[in-house]
Amino acid sequence: MASRTVFTCQACGHASPKWLGRCPDCGAWNTFVEERAAAPARGGGRRGGHALAGVLAAATEPVEPIALHQVDAGRQPRLPTGMAELDRVLGGGFVPGSVVLVGGDPGVGKSTLLLQVSQHLAARGLPVLYVTGEESAAQVRLRAERLGALAPDLAVLPTTDALQAAEAIGRYQPALAVIDSIQTLAHPDVASAPGSVSQVRESVALLMAVTKRLPVVLVLVGHVTRAGTIAGPRVVEHMVDAVLYFESPAHHAYRLLRAIKNRFGATHEIALFEMQDRGLAEVANPSARLLSERPRGAAGSAVVAAVEGTRPLLVEIQALVAPAPYGNPRRVATGLDLGRAALVLAVLDKRAGLHLGGCDVYLKVAGGLRVDEPALDLALAVALASSHRDRPADPEAVVIGELGLAGEVRSVQRVDERLREAQRLGFRRVVLPRGNLTPALAGVVGELELVPVQRVEEAIAATVG
Ligand code: TYD
Ligand code: MG
Repeated sequence: MASRTVFTCQACGHASPKWLGRCPDCGAWNTFVEERAAAPARGGGRRGGHALAGVLAAATEPVEPIALHQVDAGRQPRLPTGMAELDRVLGGGFVPGSVVLVGGDPGVGKSTLLLQVSQHLAARGLPVLYVTGEESAAQVRLRAERLGALAPDLAVLPTTDALQAAEAIGRYQPALAVIDSIQTLAHPDVASAPGSVSQVRESVALLMAVTKRLPVVLVLVGHVTRAGTIAGPRVVEHMVDAVLYFESPAHHAYRLLRAIKNRFGATHEIALFEMQDRGLAEVANPSARLLSERPRGAAGSAVVAAVEGTRPLLVEIQALVAPAPYGNPRRVATGLDLGRAALVLAVLDKRAGLHLGGCDVYLKVAGGLRVDEPALDLALAVALASSHRDRPADPEAVVIGELGLAGEVRSVQRVDERLREAQRLGFRRVVLPRGNLTPALAGVVGELELVPVQRVEEAIAATVG
């Protein structure tokens, strides 16, 4: 078997005949690794020619273009995962025939989540194939027992051979195939180490070639590298239909599942889970959870109704303004964009007479969450003013609005959903942009007192006094 040496960028997969310090494609430094790659022979070269070749041949038959209006849209019903929160992040459950990448740090709970989903589908009589390259079949069984009853339709295949995995999927034709994880898979015709870009790319390409014409949901589990991306990341992210990241905000007990890409639903959709002794449980009321530790009557706190994906979410913004006696004041923002914080500080200085130039300013989104949307601006301003004056802002009020550079409060999207969430959580007042006050809102407000504002000073006066 002829083999040649190529140098592959481990960040984006760019291949070069010689070593390079900087990738010309993605700009990453020091990412080139020597790999010995022989062009993989179609159908599996070294072995496995028989069954797999048949499946692959079927997948590569010549096809004729079809008039678009004659295309069978094949609107198959979505496959519920058994977890309403996960369904929502996916845009309403799995789409049969789609490929989903689930990434996250080791230990965050990827295997647990997917085993729970596998058990749910298998319990409904749908065949599931769980390919495990990390744990033995016995370990998977022990974990499955801990998570609930064992369903006969759940099959496990312990292998790290991409050909074996692809062949088993083609033969078994499950409703759901889980590959845990793509970094352990190796294509026998690719000489580089498991987990390298070319291995991940070839293995995933092979699996997708097999599942393309089948109504199989293919879920790929991927580990996240220190840099925060899945090894061989962009290559795989571009190939799949949806990318979900599972993360554990530092020092918090809950887990956050976030859709980074979704061809069948909204991106930035999030779901909260909690790891318990019998697996992951959904946090059904994330706003209440995120506000549960809010200090009452403390200065420097304001609640905003943000929207993440399709979900309104109440989060607490905290600000601490302290004198900076040694010059060079600090600006620290945790969970939100420092640029946004700088803009709000400048507007407060120039337009509202709140001069914080000589002060250290710390801002954070409480609860370890990261939110970034314009509607946060006004709550940042209120929290800052409250801390500066050392006077608590109205604890019954939710503040929403975008700040313009002239100090004007600009309207925000989806205000009705934000109001409903504020009402559901028992808040009494909502400070909102005047531009958002439409007659249609009358239907959603109920007991809520609406405080429309046009200027940042009005919002501060209405909440901090
Ligand atoms: P795991 O799913 O193995 O993580 P990943 O596949 O992302 O590496 O989860 C590992 C952690 O979850 C481990 O620390 C044990 C814990 N855990 C529970 O707390 N309860 C449970 O029911 C299970 C199955 C795991
Ligand atoms: Mg795992």
